[in-house]
Amino acid sequence: MRSYFIAGNWKMHKTAAESAALASELREKLAGCKEKVMVAPAFTALSEVSKVLAGSSILLGAQNMGPEEQGAHTGEVSVLMLKDLGVKVVILGHSERRHTYLETDELINKKVLLALKHGLEVILCVGETLEEREAGRLEEVVGTQIEKGLASVPAEKLPMVTIAYEPVWAIGTGKTATPEDADAVHAYCRKVLAGMYGEEAARSMVIQYGGSVKPDNAATLMGMPNIDGALVGGASLKADTFVPIACFR
Ligand code: 13P
Repeated sequence: MRSYFIAGNWKMHKTAAESAALASELREKLAGCKEKVMVAPAFTALSEVSKVLAGSSILLGAQNMGPEEQGAHTGEVSVLMLKDLGVKVVILGHSERRHTYLETDELINKKVLLALKHGLEVILCVGETLEEREAGRLEEVVGTQIEKGLASVPAEKLPMVTIAYEPVWAIGTGKTATPEDADAVHAYCRKVLAGMYGEEAARSMVIQYGGSVKPDNAATLMGMPNIDGALVGGASLKADTFVPIACFR
């Protein structure tokens, strides 16, 4: 059976206590869920959520991490600190990091390599802005983000990597790419991956869609041949909306 990966990105929402309460509710309500599921609370809530999720099948994710192991890097959080709290997956290259905090492909690649070196799974986010799409630059932008983001990542590490295609114009806007449109971009991502790693490796890559995924569009999106999961923002903040997405089939 095809495997899906559904991840909740809680972004800058919820205190530690609120996060623990949601994690506890998800632990209970997702007990029978057959998909791979991850939640990524804020850094400040990782410790509490880790305790709540211990022994469950829900993976603990982080939303970002610093590009160095340790040292004089005020405000950064290291891969070693994340691992220490039980984090298994890290989201890197989110468009909010790229556009608001001006993270470059080179910086993101440094983080990708560091996370993989320490055995963390990576969700590498890619996606075009509306201007880039309208200027006909979608493939160039997404292709470059994949190639540069995965530079020097050896083929044997690919099972640790998930790509999340998140069109920037669809994030938090209520606008979703049509399933056909999203699928076509996912197919293009696979083509780029095939050029880097070969057809076989590209076929087995998990590529999530993100951008206004809700209970009422999740099954249609994930029913498309190249869409293997979802990276969910707003709808991941409540069990009522995240559970039906995670258990969409
Ligand atoms: P929304 O689901 O709120 O559009 O956010 C998507 C996202 O950015 C997930 O990382």
